[in-house]
Amino acid sequence: MDLKISNMDEYNNAYAMAQSNPQEFWAQMATNFQWTKKWDEVQSGTIEQADIKWFDGAQLNITENCLDRHLEKRSDQVALLFEPNDPSEETVKYTYAQLHAAVCKTANMLKELGVKKGDRVCIYMSMVPEQLISVLACARLGAIHSVVFGGFSALALAGRIEDCECKVLITNDAGFRGNKIIPLKEISDEALKMKECRSIEKVLVHKRVGSSVSMQEGRDIWWHDLYAKCSTECEAEVMSSEDPLFILYTSGSTGKPKGILHTTAGYMVWAAYTFANVFQVDEGDTYWCTADIGWITGHTYITYGPLLNGATTTMFEGVPTWPDAGRFWDIVDKHKITHFYTAPTAIRALMGCGNEFVTNKSLTSLKVLGSVGEPINEEAWHWYDEVVGKKKCPIVDTWWQTETGGILISPLAGITKTIPCFATKPLPGVSPVLMNSEGEVIETTEASGNLCIDRPWPGMLRGIWGDMERFKQTYLSAYPGKYFTGDGCKRDQFSNYRITGRVDDVLNISGHRIGTAEVEDAIDQHPDVIEAAVVGFPHDVKGQGIYAYVVTGHDCEDSIKAEIIATVNKMIGPIAKPDKIQIVKGLPKTRSGKIMRRILRKIASHEFDNFGDTSTLLDPSVVDEIKDGVL
Ligand code: WTA
Repeated sequence: MDLKISNMDEYNNAYAMAQSNPQEFWAQMATNFQWTKKWDEVQSGTIEQADIKWFDGAQLNITENCLDRHLEKRSDQVALLFEPNDPSEETVKYTYAQLHAAVCKTANMLKELGVKKGDRVCIYMSMVPEQLISVLACARLGAIHSVVFGGFSALALAGRIEDCECKVLITNDAGFRGNKIIPLKEISDEALKMKECRSIEKVLVHKRVGSSVSMQEGRDIWWHDLYAKCSTECEAEVMSSEDPLFILYTSGSTGKPKGILHTTAGYMVWAAYTFANVFQVDEGDTYWCTADIGWITGHTYITYGPLLNGATTTMFEGVPTWPDAGRFWDIVDKHKITHFYTAPTAIRALMGCGNEFVTNKSLTSLKVLGSVGEPINEEAWHWYDEVVGKKKCPIVDTWWQTETGGILISPLAGITKTIPCFATKPLPGVSPVLMNSEGEVIETTEASGNLCIDRPWPGMLRGIWGDMERFKQTYLSAYPGKYFTGDGCKRDQFSNYRITGRVDDVLNISGHRIGTAEVEDAIDQHPDVIEAAVVGFPHDVKGQGIYAYVVTGHDCEDSIKAEIIATVNKMIGPIAKPDKIQIVKGLPKTRSGKIMRRILRKIASHEFDNFGDTSTLLDPSVVDEIKDGVL
C-alpha cells in the first residue's frame, strides 16, 4: 500500500485500519522503505512499561532511504536548494547524486576524526547546507546527532554537550543572520573551555563567513582541508530499528532541558508518512520549511521527511525581515515554491509590516501553506489565507512536539476541510483523548481538557537521554497508560481538534519552547537577585512574552534590569530574554512556600479581577504591591 492518502474516504479507511489493526497497517506502510532485514514484530512494548518498540528485529540505515534509494530515478533532481542570507549571493543546489556524495564524504571525515556507531556528535551550526549534510553524515555512520540551535549561549551549549557526552563538535567559523554575524566558533571556544565539554576530542570547523578564528592545534580541523581528501563512497552502517538516531534537547516545566531520544525505524516511517500525507507534495514541486535545523521541525520537515519522499527541500540561511519584509515572498517567487511551511510568529511579524511587501509579488506557484509551533490566532490565519494564499491554498495547521517526532494532528492538504485555528483531525495511527480534571477520559465529542495520546505511534520518543525515570515521570505517569502532551485542547461536535496551549510551566515564545524554571534559574545567577518568578503574557507578535518578577537584595539601580537580561543571555541565549522585568518586594506564596503563579500570570496579562482563592496566601498585601507596579 502506498504511503499517500488521496481523499477523505482513503483517510477514513486508513484511520480505521490503523486503529483496528495497527500491526498490519504499519507493516504495509513499511514496505515503502528499504530494509536490510525485515522486522520480527511491528509494534511491541507498552506505554505502561515505557518500553515501546517499532519494527523490532529489523535492520536498515535511514540515509539509504533518504538518498541511495532515490539515485536510480532522481539522481539529477534537486534534493536540496540553499538560499543564502544575502540575496545577491547565488543559490546553491544539490542534486540527489551530489547530496549523496557530500554526505558520504562528510561521513568519511567524521570517521577520520574517530567517530563510530553510537558516538554522540554535537552540531552547532548556522543554516548552511553543511548543517543538513552533517546530520545525515552522522546517521550514515550510526553516530547519534545532537543538534544545538545556533542562538544558544556557550553555557547552554556546554550543558548539552555534557549531558550526552559528545565526542565531536561540528561548527562554523560564524553564521550570517540578516545584518548580524553570529560568532559560532568563538562561542564554541568559550564552551570548550568549560569542564562540561571535556568529552570533546575534535572540532570540525566549516568556513562560512571568513571570520578570523583561533584553531587549537590537534583539536580543531578545518572542514575544507579534510573534505578534499575524503572519498565520496561510504557504506551505510547497518542499524537496528531501535538504535538511537538522534537526541534533541527541549525545555520542560522543571529542571534542565531534556535530551529527547528518537530511534531509527519508527521515526523514519513516521517522518515519511506524515510528510507525504500532510503536505501532499507532487513530482516537480518545491517545498520550503523556514524552520532552523536546530529545532525538531528542521529535523523532520527540512531534512528527513522531504528526503525520504524524494522531494526537493529548501533551506534558507537568513531571516524574514532582511533586507526587507518581502524576503520570504521574493524567495517563493524566485524558486517557484509550491509548499511553504512557517510559524505563526513569522506570519504575525510580517502581517505587521504591511501588505505591500506581499501584494507586489506574484506568489502564483504556491499550492499549500503550513503553520507550526504555536497556536495560530484567527487574524493571522485569515491574513495567511487571503493575502499570501489568495484563498487558493489550503492551510495545514500542524500540531506536534519534539517528543512526537512528527505531526500528530493536522489537516491533510486539499483533503481535510480546514477551519481557522483548528489542527482538525488526527493522522492515522494517532489516538487523541481529552482528560478531565478527575483524570478520566471525556467521552462526549464536544469537550475540552488535557490532551493525551492513548496508544503508541511510530514516531514517539523512546526516552530522555540518560534518565528513563524522568521520561516516565514527565510523560507517562500523569495519566497511566497514556502519553501526556502538556497541552490543553478543545474538540468540536465534528471531532475537530483545536490546541489551546500549554497547561504546564512551559512558555512558547515565537514558537520556541522555554521553561519558566530555566529562566528563573538564569535570573537567580545575578548576585543581587534573591528570587525570581517567570510567567508568560500575551504578546502580539511572539505569541507569548516573558514576564519576570524579581526580588532583589537591596534597593538596586535601574541598571539591574539590563544586567539581568545580560545574565539570561549568558546562561541560555537571547531567545530567553525577558520582555518585562518588574522589581518587587516579595512574591505571592502559600503558607507552604509555593509561588502562586496563577496570580502572577493574571497580573502580567493585566487581568486584575478575580484572582480566585487567595485565602492560602501567606501575605496577601504583596499582591496589591505587585498589581500597583505592573508593567
Ligand atoms: C505548541 C514544535 C498549537 C504546543 C513542533 C506543543 C502548537 C509545543 C502547534 C511543542 C499548533 C506546536 N497549534 N500549538 N499547530 N504546534 N504547538 O517541541 O504547545 O518545539 O506542545 O515542537 O508547541 O513545541 P516543540
